Amino acid sequence: MMSMTEEQYANHILGTDSDLQRASEGIRSAGMPEISIAPGFGKLLTMLVKMSGARDVLEIGALGGISGICLSRELPEGGTLTSLELKEEYAAVAHRHMEAAGLGDRVTYMIGDAKASLAQLEEEGRQFDFFFIDADKEGYPVYLDYAIRLARPGAIIAGDNTLLRGRVADPDKNGPSVVAMRAFNERMVTDERLMSTILPAYDGLTVAIRV
Ligand SMILES: C[S@@+](CC[C@H](N)C(=O)[O-])C[C@H]1O[C@@H](n2cnc3c(N)ncnc32)[C@H](O)[C@@H]1O
Repeated sequence: MMSMTEEQYANHILGTDSDLQRASEGIRSAGMPEISIAPGFGKLLTMLVKMSGARDVLEIGALGGISGICLSRELPEGGTLTSLELKEEYAAVAHRHMEAAGLGDRVTYMIGDAKASLAQLEEEGRQFDFFFIDADKEGYPVYLDYAIRLARPGAIIAGDNTLLRGRVADPDKNGPSVVAMRAFNERMVTDERLMSTILPAYDGLTVAIRV
């Protein structure tokens, strides 16, 4: 066996499957950014959905459907994924990959700035059991505010890329994404309505339960 980093080793033994493989290849051939959730965290999302019995999932940032597949594949019969995506062409690719995985009928895409979609969902009185936040990093604190308000009791809130390749821990880095991500992480771990932890693998995943 060739020498590998810890992440490469984890990805290697976790492997992939035909649905995720097809989506990764589709993203690459469409020239879209290759910034989908890491394999180990994608699997964790699937496990958390299954463990929690979540029925209605909200995803912020669809890209090419990799996290959508991970979030949907263990939903119970009648379970739903609502996916917020800025770019119509990305949502179309994501939907194609969800359909190819046999999950196309579970997902509804809302196109445009997620903040507008979240305001609409709140106005409609929608509630969710699981939130996956993975869009523009400056938006995370606002997405968290909405997630807390739209959460059913016991709902799970997960945010990806919460270490920003180590920039959150570097006092010399103070750009808008870094400042927003520090605020998001601190709220996740200190807000009394949440019980939370940070997983410092890959680019960081912060996970909370709405208590
Ligand atoms: C990191 S990618 C999402 C990856 C995806 N969750 C996955 O793991 O398969 C971020 C996505 O958020 C979308 N996005 C960026 N800003 C947004 C906004 N303000 N509202 C909604 N979506 C946004 C981007 O177009 C991109 O598709």
